[in-house]
Amino acid sequence: MAKKRNIIVGQSGGPTAVINSSLAGVYKNAIERGFDKVYGMIHGIQGLLDENYVDLSTQIHSELDIELLKRTPSAFLGSCRYKLPEIHEDKAVYEKIFEILNKLDIDSFIYIGGNDSMDTIKKLSDYAILTGQNQKFLGVPKTIDNDLALTDHTPGFGSAAKYIGVSTKEIIRDSLGLSYKKSSITIIEIMGRNAGWLTGASALAQSEESEGPDLIYLPEIPFDIDKFLENVKALLAKKSTIVIAVSEGIKLADGRYVCELGSSVDYVDVFGHKQLTGTANYLASFLSEKIGCKTRGIELSTLQRSASHMASRVDIDEAFMVGGAAVKAADEGDTGKMVVIDRVSDDPYMSATGIYDVHRIANEEKLVPRNWMNKEGTYVTKDFIDYVKPLIQGDYSPIMVNGMPRHLVLNTKGTRKPAKK
Ligand code: F6P
Repeated sequence: MAKKRNIIVGQSGGPTAVINSSLAGVYKNAIERGFDKVYGMIHGIQGLLDENYVDLSTQIHSELDIELLKRTPSAFLGSCRYKLPEIHEDKAVYEKIFEILNKLDIDSFIYIGGNDSMDTIKKLSDYAILTGQNQKFLGVPKTIDNDLALTDHTPGFGSAAKYIGVSTKEIIRDSLGLSYKKSSITIIEIMGRNAGWLTGASALAQSEESEGPDLIYLPEIPFDIDKFLENVKALLAKKSTIVIAVSEGIKLADGRYVCELGSSVDYVDVFGHKQLTGTANYLASFLSEKIGCKTRGIELSTLQRSASHMASRVDIDEAFMVGGAAVKAADEGDTGKMVVIDRVSDDPYMSATGIYDVHRIANEEKLVPRNWMNKEGTYVTKDFIDYVKPLIQGDYSPIMVNGMPRHLVLNTKGTRKPAKK
């Protein structure tokens, strides 16, 4: 069989616990489909522009490496937040990229990322068509935020949701243990930017033996700080221990982020996203001042997207599946598209892949529907919980060495020794 041309894969945007499972899916399927070389961009398109890439056969040597990769958090290849200019604004950038792709004899370009990263696939596939080049450009969905359009959910979300549900449950137990004759309020800050999917997942802490968080505030609904104080006071009249989940992205009616009310960080990325941090601590200080009881702010921060020890099996498997599906689609001639996950059934849970034009996905944000929140905007509904539950099922045991999880890490010199059992 004549050898096919080469494939190149990159990772972009905020990492997840399962982004490397998609990379493993791309690699394995590309080899099985007879692609000659599989290159990895080091730090996505930004690294590629500096001709920073690696031949993945120097990194992945065995089935055990594939298994390690599936269980390794963060972007194995390194990620980036890089916005390509509009084609008419700066053709030179595109010329440079295509010069590198042609030099490497690339047939297919696969990018694992969220809505900002799909903008890269959109622009590159548009440019290829405009200039009559024959590379194919495919997107693989990835984001803990779960805010990509047209896919039932995104790889990365299920594992982060599981970590958030479990951590919330453990935080509730911790605070109840110290509740004798004193009140306490704990506020947990959860990622997700403008979408409340992850914050809503704190409700997974509800079970036979756990009430779950007392209040949940999503960014989809303007945050009223006076009403918040009223709600907390009303709860304190009934119970002494209160746990509240808030999204990092909750905003006041005037559009200011709540985190901007405190000592906020001013960093804004190239996509115009402000770094969101400090909401829980601000609200904890606010309540301490107004109520006078013990308060604590907990920011789950990067723990929620790197907790591969808590990853969901469904999530790891689906991440692998979408990686493979992108290779198949490219091999069959698709371009300018993103693979999506379709939910086939809930019980038993089954999913399959589909594919959509990336122009319908890039830069769009899928938010939590209003009817999946209660009337007051202080909790999620049963429909929300039923939607998330199948996505957190099962686990993959980490491969433990000396009591710690073993990860697969990039060796840019390409001399890494194969992993031993
Ligand atoms: O987009 C994914 C995400 O994890 C968001 O939930 C969060 O706001 C953002 O990334 C944080 O990004 P960074 O780590 O670059 O500050």
